[in-house]
Amino acid sequence: MGKITSGAGVALAVAMAVLAGCRQEEPRKAESLPALPAPQSLERGEALFRQNCSPCHPDGGNVSDPERTLHGSDLRSHHIARPEDIVRIMRNPVSRMIRFDTTTISDQDAMTIAEYVLTTFR
Ligand code: HEC
Repeated sequence: MGKITSGAGVALAVAMAVLAGCRQEEPRKAESLPALPAPQSLERGEALFRQNCSPCHPDGGNVSDPERTLHGSDLRSHHIARPEDIVRIMRNPVSRMIRFDTTTISDQDAMTIAEYVLTTFR
């Protein structure tokens, strides 16, 4: 009896964790983006990039990891193709990159930076 109850408890906990995980991903997917960012948003992207990313990624390079620049070929080989992929890295960097959370860079600004990166460093 005890066993059955705790088994169900575990299954429920797992199901709830899965549901919670899905709910967190939802808002990001709902955003629909234009194919090409507007010029003024690229300008803002550039300013934000200079401020937050340039010290480590001058001209889209990478001062501490030359194999992980922001140039298209490097991004593609690391499966980074969409603005969302770049935002994901800003929120959860691989290792040495500092983490940018939503209090540092809002989701909207993060998308603006990501679009700037994808259209600028090819
Ligand atoms: C403190 C230095 C530093 C800053 C600031 C920084 N990065 Fe990085 N970035 C890195 C390093 C180091 C890596 C390599 C992966 C790692 O160690 O996390 C990296 C990797 C990346 C990658 C993956 C590149 C690839 O080819 O795999 C992206 C995309 C990226 N950074 C975007 C950004 C953006 C956008 C910003 C600004 C919001 C930023 N980074 C700010 C150091 C930095």
